This record gives sequence, structure tokens and C-alpha cells, in this order.
Amino acid sequence: MNDMILTHDLVTALAPASYRLDKAAISVFGLGYVGAVSMACIASLGHRMVGVDPDASKVARIAAGQSPIVEERLGELLSQGVENELIDATTDARTAVLATDISFVSVGTPTAADGGCDFRFVRQVAQEIGAALAEKDDFHLVVLRCSVPPGTTLDVMVPELEAASGKRLGEGFGIAFNPEFLREGTAVKDFFRPTKTVIGASDDRSAAMLADVYIPVDENLHFVSIETAEMVKYVDNTWHANKVAFANEIGRLCKAYDTDSHAVMDLFCQDRHLNLSSYYLKPGFAFGGSCLPKEVRAMQHLAQEKGLRLPLIDSLTETNDAHIDSALAMIEQTGARRIGFLGITFKPDTDDLRESPTLELVAACLERDLQVSVYDPNLHADGDLEGHYAYMRHARPHLRAVIDALPGMVRSTADQVSDESEALVVSHNAHGYADAVARRPADVAVIDLVRLFKTVPQDPTYHGIGW
Ligand SMILES: NC(=O)c1ccc[n+]([C@@H]2O[C@H](COP(=O)([O-])OP(=O)(O)OC[C@H]3O[C@@H](n4cnc5c(N)ncnc54)[C@H](O)[C@@H]3O)[C@@H](O)[C@H]2O)c1
Repeated sequence: MNDMILTHDLVTALAPASYRLDKAAISVFGLGYVGAVSMACIASLGHRMVGVDPDASKVARIAAGQSPIVEERLGELLSQGVENELIDATTDARTAVLATDISFVSVGTPTAADGGCDFRFVRQVAQEIGAALAEKDDFHLVVLRCSVPPGTTLDVMVPELEAASGKRLGEGFGIAFNPEFLREGTAVKDFFRPTKTVIGASDDRSAAMLADVYIPVDENLHFVSIETAEMVKYVDNTWHANKVAFANEIGRLCKAYDTDSHAVMDLFCQDRHLNLSSYYLKPGFAFGGSCLPKEVRAMQHLAQEKGLRLPLIDSLTETNDAHIDSALAMIEQTGARRIGFLGITFKPDTDDLRESPTLELVAACLERDLQVSVYDPNLHADGDLEGHYAYMRHARPHLRAVIDALPGMVRSTADQVSDESEALVVSHNAHGYADAVARRPADVAVIDLVRLFKTVPQDPTYHGIGW
């Protein structure tokens, strides 16, 4: 990152000097919270910007260098852009497309009647841009910036653009999805200090055109598939909502127990290794062990004792069980009668079986009269199985049958399990399981609960639980 460029005052001061005629001209469709900020900030990097909106009053304000919304420093940057003849606005889509190289689309995507995404404005803009593209010879890049479900750019936007322009994607126009992560209230500041810049583009030329716009504020651009770029925006916001809801449930619980929630959460936030980090945030198998399930139940119990409703914490066991169920459904779908498990303790590098979610799968297999074999170098059939069962007997009484049958299921190598199974269930990424899976007999199915391979095998017998 370039600190000089990141200093807001410097950006503002240098904006006129940094104006370069070879910078792409950009039209921005939708001059709301996102579009108005894009206009102002990108103009300050020296791009010529043309705003488009059917709302004539917004157009008039932007063209006059006035902010249409309450947003720190927005009016200042807009008026500077107008003064530098870098900002203009119109209600005419055609003029804007013909006068620019790139079109950003930041129209609203409100909730539809069925709870999904209302594409009305996206479709309409695509038709307007497409109609203008029909008259344009030069390559044009269309960049969707709205928050939309994965698939929208390619399956909604592109067909509209192609139909209206008579051109094919890649011939005359390119497409990209570039999510916007700015927070209202600090959007200008966030633009110059982005948390991340994500570009999903249809082709290298489009990716490079968009990269040129953002390089001055972010040297670490993330080039991903269009669908990944679309999804990450929804995921980010769902995570933020999750954090707020969690902190608020902790607040209500702490208050009921006369405990200072801010002291608790301040301490919680000190832990940047396990709590505020990427730890525990990779899709994989269900949580288990001697602590997480037990403590979640304890928190639910604390809430019940005080008559509190904590739906988020309440949902954790349910969502974990749903995940185990989906693994079981995958096993059943293979149609296999002989199931081999690679890894059975609750995580690798421990001999602890207590509330291992894999035990639930084994139990379900036994209930269905499937034949089960197991390899786990840390499992000792002559170890303290009874002690492990005693610890979880109130929470998981049905695991009695698994504990009893376990000694007879244990094999001494992964290959032995693989050789006698029709389906392999892998619940640890350890002990050379990836190699064992790679050299398994060709017709043995694999249920991968841990993402053994960075690149997902394109093999009909391989099934990943969340990829
Ligand atoms: N508000 C935020 O902080 C934020 C942050 C990230 C992403 N987003 C997403 O960005 C998108 C825009 O959000 P917003 O808050 O800026 O919306 P907004 O409602 O403030 O603005 C949308 C603008 O689009 C205009 N518009 C409608 N049809 C048009 C057309 N055919 N041509 C040109 N303009 C048209 C509207 O008149 C309006 O001014 C949404 O998908 C939103 O989910 C918003």
C-alpha cells in the first residue's frame, strides 16, 4: 500500500495534478449512497465521471458538486470534482455510455416479495446500457457493484446486455462484479483505506481495466471468479449481522447474571488468535469434543433459567446437527454398505472421543446395519472408552452402541480400511489420509469432511461436504 496516496488530505490536494487523460472515463448508474461516493472518490483519483440517475434532483445536485446524501467529506470531493471538470451527471443513459469506457452499476437491489433479490433495477439498467452499446464500436466494460446473489452478473445482467446490444460477452463488451464494502458514514475514508478490493471479471482485459482504477488505493487486489465476488459480499454482511446478534445475546445474558458484558466482550476481543481471527472459519465438519457442545448447552441452560430468549446461541446445536445429517445423507447417497472412517476422534492429534461428531455418523451407520471399519492412529481400543462414554452419557446416550462396537471396528492402517470399504468418510486432514484417498480402489466413494485437496477433484466418486 502507498501511504502517501492513502492520506486523505493528500489525495484531495493532489487530485487535480493527478488527473491523467489516459485514465478510463467511468459512468456510474445509480447515484445513491454507493454511486455518489464512487463518483466523488474515483474522480479524486483523476478519472472523468458521468453519473446517471432517473432522479433529476440527484442528477442536478451531483452536477452542481453537492452531496445528495449525508456522508462525511462527500460534498467537498464532489465540488472539487466538478471544479476540476471531472464530474458530470445526466438522466440520459445513452450519452453516458457513449462518453465513457466503463459503466459502474450501483442501483438498488431491494428484497423481493418472496424474500429473494429484486432484479428490476439491475435488468432495467442492463437494457439501457445494452441499447447504448449497440451504437458503440469501442470495447466497453460493465461493472456490477450491487449486492446480488451469485449468478446474477452472468445469468441476469449479461443476457439483458446481449439482447439489448446485439453483441456477445467478450465481443465488444466485458463484464465484472466488484462488490462494495464501504460503510455509510465513513464511506469516503473507507474508499481510500479499503479492507479489500475484490474483482471478478469475465476476461483479463476487463480485470486489468478495473485494476487500473483501484491500484492507486489498493495494491493487493483479489482476482476471483464472478460468483465468488458476488457471494463474498453477502457473506461479509451476514457475518457482521452474526457478530452484532451474538454480542447482543451475550449482553442480555450477562445482564441477567449481573456480569458486565462490556468487560466480558473486551476480554473476548483481546484474543486475536482464536476469537477474532480466521480460526474456526473454514467450512469443514461439525464441532464436537468435550468443551464446545457442552458449553453451548450450558449457555442455553443459563438463558432458560432466567427466561431469556437467545435464538442465535439456541440455534448452534441445531445447525451442528444439521451438518452431521448432511454428512449422513451423503453417505447414504453413495448406496455403499461397507463404510470406512479415516479419523474418528473429535479432531486430529488427540485420543479424545468425547462428543466426536464422527461417532454420530458411525452410530447412524450401525443403526442402518451398515458394516463399519475405522482407522485412527490416536484411537486405542483398549483405552478409556468407558470414561469417554461416561462424560457424554447424558447428552449422547445413543452412542453406547458405538462405544461397545468400536474395538471390533478398528483396523491398523488406512489402506486396510480403504480396501474393505465401498465408501470412505474422512474426518481429519492428517496422517496421510489424502494419499490414502488418492490411492484408493477406483470404485470406492469418498465423503470428504475436511477439504483434503485445495483443488476439488473432478471425480464423480468424490464428494465434499461444503465444496
Ligand atoms: N448503502 C450502502 O452502504 C451499500 C454498501 C454496499 C453495497 N450496497 C449495495 O449497493 C447497491 C446500491 O445501494 P444504495 O444504498 O446506493 O442504493 P440507493 O437506493 O441509495 O440508490 C440507488 C439509486 O439507483 C437509482 N436508479 C434506479 N434505477 C436506475 C436506472 N435505471 N438508472 C440509473 N439509476 C437508477 C435510484 O434512483 C437511486 O438513486 C445495492 O445493491 C446495495 O445493496 C449498498
